[in-house]
Amino acid sequence: MKFLVTGGAGFIGSNFIRLLLRERKDSEIVNLDKLTYAGNIENLRDVEGDRRYTFVKGDICDREVVEAAADGADLIINFAAESHVDRSINEPGSFIRTDVFGAYTLLETARKYDCGFVQISTDEVYGSISEGSFFENSMLSPSSPYSSSKAAAELLAKSYFTTYGLPVLVTRSSNNFGPFQHPEKLIPLFITNAMENKPLPVYGDGQQVRDWLYVIDNCRAILAVIDRGKSGEVYNIGAGNELTNLQITEMILAGLHKPSSLIKFVKDRPGHDKRYSVEAAKIRQLGWHPEYEFGKALSETIGWYRGNAGWWQRLKSGEFLEYYKRHYHERHGLGDAA
Ligand code: NAD
Ligand code: TYD
Repeated sequence: MKFLVTGGAGFIGSNFIRLLLRERKDSEIVNLDKLTYAGNIENLRDVEGDRRYTFVKGDICDREVVEAAADGADLIINFAAESHVDRSINEPGSFIRTDVFGAYTLLETARKYDCGFVQISTDEVYGSISEGSFFENSMLSPSSPYSSSKAAAELLAKSYFTTYGLPVLVTRSSNNFGPFQHPEKLIPLFITNAMENKPLPVYGDGQQVRDWLYVIDNCRAILAVIDRGKSGEVYNIGAGNELTNLQITEMILAGLHKPSSLIKFVKDRPGHDKRYSVEAAKIRQLGWHPEYEFGKALSETIGWYRGNAGWWQRLKSGEFLEYYKRHYHERHGLGDAA
C-alpha cells in the first residue's frame, strides 16, 4: 500500500511513519513536509536509508507539488498543520493558509486520483467542556484560530465524502506527548526548562485540564481507523488521563528532582479552554485501547529529552528564540524563560 503522509517531519507524523515502516512491511511512504520551524528532518534520520521511504520538501498548499507527491498513492494522511494555539493567537494567517487551504489542496488531489483521505484533527474542535465528555456527534465550538482552522478542515473533508463520495476518515485526538515533540508545547517546554533551571510558565491558575495521550497510542489508533474505520466517520481518540496543568508541572519537576520554586504563574492565554474531554468508546469498538500507562510514559518521555539534549537545544535557538522574544517574553515578562 502506498501512503502520502503530509507533515511527517513533525512530532506525531514522524512517530507515525516510524511505526508504519516497522509494522507494515509492504508499505511505501512519501513524506511531504514544508519543514517549517516545527518540521525537523532529523526526526526520521533513522529511516532515511529505508527503500520504502521517500522525503519530499514541499508545501501542501502547492497543487503541483502535492499532485506529484500523491501520484500512485492509495491513501493521503494529513498531519501537516500549523499546530500551536499560542502562535495562532499571535499570527492566525498561516493557520488559515496551511490548515484550511492546504487541506483543500490535498482533498482536490485525492479526488483527482480517487484515493482515500485521513484528516488528523483534534479534540480542540469541540471547545471546552466543564463536565462529562464530548461524543463524535457533539457540536463543534472551537475557541482559537488554531482549533477553528482544524474544524474548518475536517468539515471540508467530510463534505468531500458527502458530495463526491471520497473515502474520508477523521480522527480527533486529545493532547499528545512523547519523543520528538517540539519544545514550544507544554510537556517538552517544561521538561527542558526544568533541566536548564529556567522558570516553568504556568498560564493563569494552572487548573486547566487536558487528557494526555502517549503519541504511540495515538499512532496505533490512527492505524486502527485506517484498517477498520468506516468511511465518512469521525473517531475520538483519548486515553482518559485527565490532569490539570499544575499536576503535570509537579510530576515533571518530581521526575527531574527539581524544586517547585521553578513554577512561575504568568498571564493567562486569551480564550484559554478550561477542559478538554472526549468519549473514546467508538475507537475502542475498533479494537484499540491505550497501551501506555501515563506515569511510565511521562518518565520515558523525560528520559528521552534527557538523552537528546542536542535535538531540543537546536530547536530552542534561532527562529524559535526570536519568536519567543517577540511574543512570549514580552507578554509574560519571563526574561530568558525559553
Ligand atoms: P507539528 O507542529 O509537530 O508538525 C507539523 C508538521 O507539519 C511539521 O513537520 C511542519 O513542517 C509541517 N507543515 C506545516 N505547514 C506545512 C505546509 N504548509 N506544508 C507541508 N508541511 C507543513 O504538529 P504535531 O503535533 O505533530 O501535530 C500533527 C497533526 O496532529 C496536526 O494536524 C495537529 O493539528 C494534530 N493534532 C496534534 C495534537 C498534539 O497534541 N500535538 C493533538 C491532536 C491533533
Ligand atoms: P499546549 O501544549 O500548548 O497544548 P494545547 O493548548 O493545544 O492544549 O498547552 C497545554 C496546556 O498547557 C494548555 O492549557 C496551555 C498550558 N500551557 C501553559 O500553562 N504554559 C505554557 O508555557 C504552555 C506552552 C502551555
